[in-house]
Amino acid sequence: MSSELSLIDKAKFVAAKQASEYVKSGMKVGLGTGSTAAWLVQCLGEMVRENGLKIKGVPTSNRTAKLARQVGIDVITLEEAKWLDITIDGTDEYDDELTLIKGGGGAHLREKIVATASDRMIVIADATKKVDTLGAFPLPIEVVPFGLPVTQGLIEEMLTGVDVLGRDIVQRMQGKKPYVTDEGNFILDLHLKRISDARQLSLVINQIPGVVENGLFIDICDVVVVGHGDGKVTVRDITNDTSEVVRFDVLDDDNIFVDISD
Ligand code: 5RP
Repeated sequence: MSSELSLIDKAKFVAAKQASEYVKSGMKVGLGTGSTAAWLVQCLGEMVRENGLKIKGVPTSNRTAKLARQVGIDVITLEEAKWLDITIDGTDEYDDELTLIKGGGGAHLREKIVATASDRMIVIADATKKVDTLGAFPLPIEVVPFGLPVTQGLIEEMLTGVDVLGRDIVQRMQGKKPYVTDEGNFILDLHLKRISDARQLSLVINQIPGVVENGLFIDICDVVVVGHGDGKVTVRDITNDTSEVVRFDVLDDDNIFVDISD
């Protein structure tokens, strides 16, 4: 790994490297989106090219699809895969129950579909993503462009009836234009500050016409793999109720992934 990598990138890399060990030949693998997931795709690409790993990858975004092809992973659609052995993805926040907020990269709709269609979902993260209470990271909501102000108004009204600390809603932009997802929709970021009941919130948000999907992942994630800048990785499996610590030697002359960008 390049010595120019920041501690946070080293943390993401070692989490991805450790999680790549869950992937075996013959598997159909959901490939997440974001900078941590990009490390995972690089690790899997290396295993394909150099160790003969044979997998089919189902990307959760167009940018992950492009990267996966670049590194040599055989990419198929979810329709072709039908069901996946495993999905490995990053997260914006996770709590003790492994409830997640995802969608900082604007891909939570496809990410949720792909993770839900998998036997297991492994989340890879650096330690900054752990929270006691979800909600400091704005909750992304994918909404259809049609009638956007009406949908936003209904979300505002709904928020007055739920236990959250903040109620600001900001439409995600890309420069001066609205951010458009791979599915052609918009994203509203809900600045809730604290989410007391993620399950209730997720249910009520998804009942609003115009809402496609929210970024809360509840009862979807099985394992969290957390990397640290010094090479330490903790793996927590809530299905088996196990926790282990692994240590990687973070080598300065290993430059295989220096060109990575997301
Ligand atoms: C994309 C996501 C990402 O997994 C999440 O934003 C984390 O990204 P990163 O690994 O870059 O911190 O949900 O929609």
